[in-house]
Amino acid sequence: MSLKQTEMFRPWLHFAPKKNWMNDPNGLVYFNGEYHLFFQYNPNDSKWGPMHWGHAISKDLITWDELPIALYPDEYGTIFSGSCVVDWNNTTGFFPDEPGLVAIFTHHLETELNKTPIQSQSLAYSYDNGRTWKKYQSNPVLEHDTKVDFRDPKVFWHQVSNKWIMVLATGQTISIYSSPNLIEWSYESEFGENIGSHEGVWECPDLFELQIEESEESRWVLLVSIGDNPHLDSGSRTQYFVGTFDGTQFKAKHNEVRWLDYGKDNYAGVSFSDIPEEDGRRIYLGWMSNWRYANDVPTHGWRSQMTLPRVLGLRKVQDSYTLVQTPVQELEKYFTNEKILENKLIQKEFRFDLDESYGMITLNIEDISAERISLNIHHSQTNVTSITIDVEKLILTLDRSKSGITSFSDNFLKQQNVKIPNTEKIKLNIIIDSASIEVFGNEGEFALTSLIYPDKACEEISLQVLDGEMVVNGCISKPSDYSN
Ligand code: FRU
Repeated sequence: MSLKQTEMFRPWLHFAPKKNWMNDPNGLVYFNGEYHLFFQYNPNDSKWGPMHWGHAISKDLITWDELPIALYPDEYGTIFSGSCVVDWNNTTGFFPDEPGLVAIFTHHLETELNKTPIQSQSLAYSYDNGRTWKKYQSNPVLEHDTKVDFRDPKVFWHQVSNKWIMVLATGQTISIYSSPNLIEWSYESEFGENIGSHEGVWECPDLFELQIEESEESRWVLLVSIGDNPHLDSGSRTQYFVGTFDGTQFKAKHNEVRWLDYGKDNYAGVSFSDIPEEDGRRIYLGWMSNWRYANDVPTHGWRSQMTLPRVLGLRKVQDSYTLVQTPVQELEKYFTNEKILENKLIQKEFRFDLDESYGMITLNIEDISAERISLNIHHSQTNVTSITIDVEKLILTLDRSKSGITSFSDNFLKQQNVKIPNTEKIKLNIIIDSASIEVFGNEGEFALTSLIYPDKACEEISLQVLDGEMVVNGCISKPSDYSN
């Protein structure tokens, strides 16, 4: 395999492992000036296999340094998804001298004897900022006799009840446990039996509190990823619930299913733990792939990348609290404005040459009299991804069927759609990297995350209006010197 081949489609702005297979982000935590990203990793192949925790660190959430593997399989099994926390008050007794990191993860054990694998929760801790890890001597710390799917612990310190809380995926529900010390766990409650989407197995939960924008009030948000259901087109995707949490029970305040992302490629995402209070952001990172085709995407020697890190918020949109997401502001220094559009009236077409490794387009569209608007990202002479808005139906569609290599999956060709909540004014922020397009609409009220495999990232951009006109403010940005 030539170097050129292995580097094809390698992202500029997104984390991807140097070699071999990656899936879910794990153990996202901020500690001593570093963001840690652990991830589901198979060091022996570029397809899913026996799981380890890979490791990368970053100072700005965009440029990552990959470090040696953090957690290896042992006699209790391979290392499935989980989380990390800082044990500030030495609740575990592991840190008599100074606070350190604890990883809470699923051990997944397959044996010849047992037809069904056994999943249990275990601990590991680190005295050197996550560089090396000791497994807890009495692992596992949480087991179950009957539940087969019993995995992906996400743990946080709940100030009000003064205890650790774990949300755990248990089949098609989320179970909540609590602990004074991360070692002894008590069952609190189960959520989800008669609510939400049950199209597949529930995985990778996260539970956190968010303040409602422009209000003093807050609500709790529960993220739940749902595994692939081969009978549906959607593949694997993530739903969320907005509600209340009292230290024991989570209650959703709505019945309808809500999706985190309308693109195919944002799965198993969770948020960072221990972001300092003075920062105060809830920062989310997802795995930018879909179980429907993740093992087949056309990269060589490595597979998968993460989404951009996103700040989550809650906004009142048409009488309900919507989870909003926008890329972290650290991304801005990687861009420089190339073309500013000021009250530009567009009739028929506007084209702009970019010819860059990656780019960003920000458009605020007003005074729309057209029936349809298309933004075409011409990756090369032959590869194009189209984002089309049907103005009457208020539907945005991303079509990647001509974006480059698609032959590895029929499902990859299918269009991705989102209903736009409001079209008085349409705001789009679109980030194009060498193998992805992330669309953030109306300041994060909807997101559409999509992989692509084109010859090049972006050569030219064209904006087209059908039967009418529109006024556009915004800008087209290219890589800044910072990224070179
Ligand atoms: C989600 C998931 C998790 C599991 C891990 C295994 O993508 O299936 O539920 O812990 O991947 O790699």
